[in-house]
Amino acid sequence: MNHFPVIAIDGPSASGKGTVAQLVASKLGFNYLDSGALYRIVAFAAQQDNIPWSDALAVTACTKTLKIEFINEQVLLNNQDVSNEIRTEEIGKGASQVAVHAPLRAALVDMQHSFCKAPGLIADGRDMGTVIFPEAELKVFLTASTETRALRRYKQLQGKNQPANYEHILQDLTERDARDKGRASAPLLMADDAILLETDNVGISDAVDYILQKYQILQNT
Ligand code: DC
Repeated sequence: MNHFPVIAIDGPSASGKGTVAQLVASKLGFNYLDSGALYRIVAFAAQQDNIPWSDALAVTACTKTLKIEFINEQVLLNNQDVSNEIRTEEIGKGASQVAVHAPLRAALVDMQHSFCKAPGLIADGRDMGTVIFPEAELKVFLTASTETRALRRYKQLQGKNQPANYEHILQDLTERDARDKGRASAPLLMADDAILLETDNVGISDAVDYILQKYQILQNT
């Protein structure tokens, strides 16, 4: 694997880490890895092939045949733009289900490492600081209460004119957290050397500034 600076930003669903990570990447001019998109693509591709998300072997075999590309803002699966299709709540749930399979996670490691290019990388996910980039220069664990995150997701869906029910979202997030934290393979876990950033009362731009400051301090030491 190449050695360029990595900032790992992990945390649960709807913690705001995607937005924060992309802004940090753009401020620093770094590459950006949205590792959740990989699990979403796998869930989407499996669904297309009628493969149950619970079938570890078939899901992993299917994953090995996929051509996955990130071009600008687009996510391409076998040359097709699936950026919108993989962002649904259903595919998010599927991503969390396929993500429990250790062989599937192993099949995605090299691809994630390949994002580590000059001048550096912002890696966003659940196991960036613990498993994929344990040597990351800076590790941040971004989180917020389930209620705050459910409300954010609710507003996001409303903003997109999509059906939104707060109670259902809260329940789905609680289930997703439990699955992501409870799985045996690379569970959602704060790395021992990560900085905890709780965003219940912290806005996006303050979170971005905080991470940039921490990175600056590291660079000056
Ligand atoms: O960040 P996201 O909501 O797009 O992620 C979707 C699911 O993918 C998440 O519920 C768990 C899984 N995931 C994972 O297991 N490991 C990662 N590094 C990123 C996502």
